[in-house]
Amino acid sequence: MSPRLIHAALLPALASIMLAGLAAAQPGSPPPAYSPPPETARLLEGPDLAKAQTYCLACHSADYVTTQPRGMSAAFWEAEVAKMRTAYGATIPDDAVKPLVNYLTTAYSAPAAHERETVARLRKSP
Ligand code: HEC
Repeated sequence: MSPRLIHAALLPALASIMLAGLAAAQPGSPPPAYSPPPETARLLEGPDLAKAQTYCLACHSADYVTTQPRGMSAAFWEAEVAKMRTAYGATIPDDAVKPLVNYLTTAYSAPAAHERETVARLRKSP
């Protein structure tokens, strides 16, 4: 089959695929329904946990916090909170910053917290 003949045979098929695509994307058609799975991640216990629940779970899962490396300094968490405010527009009031940094450092950086978490995970594993 010459390339010209292949084109002649494929063009109608391609055209109908494209038309079907256009029909599916008609404005006004409802977006596909999607419900996210229930949240399973949660923030660790710590001072002012409620503040962290208010200000740190509005945009993303607790996984974003819990998957950060352990043992980071207060400066790291301070920089994270600042980034959430300036880069991502988190509406965290000035007077909540210090308690949040304290919570994050206590709950996620202290060796004791890391150890507690590891022991709990080891006990859960089969
Ligand atoms: C206004 C929305 C918003 C709020 C509120 C928010 N974040 Fe985020 N956060 C984001 C976005 C957007 C990302 C980046 C997502 C991506 O890259 O997929 C992010 C990412 C992160 C990450 C991953 C590392 C990084 O720097 O990208 C951490 C850790 C994090 N956030 C912690 C926090 C903590 C702690 C708080 C509360 C003090 C908080 N976030 C509140 C929007 C927010």
